[in-house]
Amino acid sequence: MDRTPSGISGLDSIIEGGFPKGRNFFLSGSAGSGKTILSMQFVYNGAYKYQEKGLYVSFEEPIEDIISDSSRFGWNIQKMVDEEKLKFLYFPMLKKDFEENVFDLLSTLVKQIKENKYQRLVIDSLPAFGMAFNDYNKMRKELFLLLHEIRKLNCTTIVITEKPSGDIGLTHFRVEDFLAQGLIMLHLGHTYRGIEVRKLRGTNHSTDVHRMRIGEEGIVVYPGDHPY
Ligand SMILES: Nc1ncnc2c1ncn2[C@@H]1O[C@H](COP(=O)(O)OP(=O)(O)OP(=O)(O)O)[C@@H](O)[C@H]1O
Ligand SMILES: [Mg+2]
Repeated sequence: MDRTPSGISGLDSIIEGGFPKGRNFFLSGSAGSGKTILSMQFVYNGAYKYQEKGLYVSFEEPIEDIISDSSRFGWNIQKMVDEEKLKFLYFPMLKKDFEENVFDLLSTLVKQIKENKYQRLVIDSLPAFGMAFNDYNKMRKELFLLLHEIRKLNCTTIVITEKPSGDIGLTHFRVEDFLAQGLIMLHLGHTYRGIEVRKLRGTNHSTDVHRMRIGEEGIVVYPGDHPY
């Protein structure tokens, strides 16, 4: 199977060299656990190190904030944007007509991926996207259709979801892990950060929690080093 390396130190070696190419997985964890940073690192490394174009779709934070926060890690995001290797789209989901127009929005995404041959996609985040829906089943259906379409385009996709802190469930809607081809959990404790691969179809991985750090160059994973 072809792999899409994250380029994140320590992460690729625990997932047989990278994420299964063209598939999707969910990234869950509590607030501040590093979901946005990991996803940015995934698309930035794709553009900068692996010549793979990436699309970052935010329903949550404005693009300027994401770019300026990530620039702290020495990543020249603007250069990648100027060279058309990275693209950011922001859809504030609080707009009144979001739910009526969601079909157009999702077909715009699919069209963009097709036309520009994006090979990496991030959706940040599913709970923000889901908030715009009054009808939960409609949201699930739209999400499922979107993932189905993207699957055909060979674009490796991270869908960010969240784990409410203190909640025993792993993900916001509690269905994501069944829908997705993989689930990665980020752990945030008082004194540690960790990462755990819960599920990754087609991949031989352990389900250990590995220590993770957010340092000056972004996320670093320490394979086999238990965080607590
Ligand atoms: N420059 C930095 N150096 C070290 N740690 C940082 C740096 N910038 C942010 N962090 C840490 O990363 C956290 C934010 O990570 P990130 O935005 O990826 O979280 P998230 O999981 O996306 O959270 P949310 O659910 O709120 O969107 C901060 O709370 C802080 O602890
Ligand atoms: Mg975030």
